[in-house]
Amino acid sequence: MSALFPTYQRWDLEITHGEGAWVTARDGKRYLDFIAGIAVCNLGHRHPKVLEAVHAQLDQVWHVSNLFQNSLQEEVAERLVQHSSGDRVFFCNSGAEANEAAIKLARKATGKWKIITFEQSFHGRTFATMAATGQDKVKVGYGPMLPTFVYVPYNDVEQLQQAMDQETAAIMLEVIQGEGGVNPGDPSFIQAAEQLCREYGALLIVDEVQTGIGRTGKPFAYQHYGISPDIISVAKGLGNGFPVGAVIGKEQLLEAFGPGSHGSTFGGNPLAMAAANATLQVIFEESFLQDVVAKGEYLKKQLEARLAGLPGLQEIRGQGLILGIETSFEVAPLLAIMREKQLLTLGAGPHVIRLLPPIIVSKEEMDEAVDRIMAAWKEYMN
Ligand SMILES: Cc1ncc(COP(=O)(O)O)c(C=O)c1O
Repeated sequence: MSALFPTYQRWDLEITHGEGAWVTARDGKRYLDFIAGIAVCNLGHRHPKVLEAVHAQLDQVWHVSNLFQNSLQEEVAERLVQHSSGDRVFFCNSGAEANEAAIKLARKATGKWKIITFEQSFHGRTFATMAATGQDKVKVGYGPMLPTFVYVPYNDVEQLQQAMDQETAAIMLEVIQGEGGVNPGDPSFIQAAEQLCREYGALLIVDEVQTGIGRTGKPFAYQHYGISPDIISVAKGLGNGFPVGAVIGKEQLLEAFGPGSHGSTFGGNPLAMAAANATLQVIFEESFLQDVVAKGEYLKKQLEARLAGLPGLQEIRGQGLILGIETSFEVAPLLAIMREKQLLTLGAGPHVIRLLPPIIVSKEEMDEAVDRIMAAWKEYMN
């Protein structure tokens, strides 16, 4: 019997080692990892630069508290603001915490209470981010939710317009809904959301927890949409596997997060900052990101060409290296066959296969993954 709460439906597989886009299980089998810790290990497992930076920091100091100056935090914050629309950064430890900070910041800075989020969105599991999430399944049994959030169908400009009013502190959105099914936002919808924020004196919060840190071929996915969010939340890929999150905000929000207004014991911990600094140094390079764009296009084209005509295939969508394959059947048994074929993939809702390879994945590895998807699909259909 396990001493753990059974919060996760775990597969019968334990990973004991990782290297690049590959992981090894306890029984010695090697798997091609197209989950990457759920969009976390963007640079793959044991990336030499991140490994070196964390090793070096381990030998110096692990933790000191935010009562002290922290030049590593300054450095990572500088990298984040240089590559985003924001000017100031607060560090925390996870995506949900980054969104909590974003929600608090928006409410305090505007003095308003209402935050609009979207159906099928996912923003985390804390009490506020669970309430922000536009999926009932995460709320079952927890009683009344915080009344802060109003939910609107995604990609529906008209309903968004109707929901906006003078009490609206913020619109909070993912530009590609990850957990909700790899649903890309229409550019006209994302731009309308920004426009409405400007009209009503509300703030635009973009949740980049799953899409940020190079996954779509830009530092942040919103940068494909020509918008300038007031607040951006990040986590997952930021530390390449070391737990760390951040909220990035524009300069005019400075006073709302003054001394004593928010905090976190572990936020910006030196080990996390060493990991984040090395990760961003590699990913926020123009040529590296161009490569991610090319890889994303290649993988999508290969999937479109080779999966075409397979029974049950509905649509292939996404951007860069967050791709969704929608099917007319429930994907769980197909994902299990892929695991038997030593390819790790994820669902996004019942009908979408989600591919989140490390963004350092090679062309050969992408070809191999498509081969294994094809083989698994054919086996599933027989
Ligand atoms: C878009 C988005 N926001 C927030 C979260 C929550 O992040 P965490 O699990 O680190 O709290 C996730 C996690 O999947 C996410 O995909």
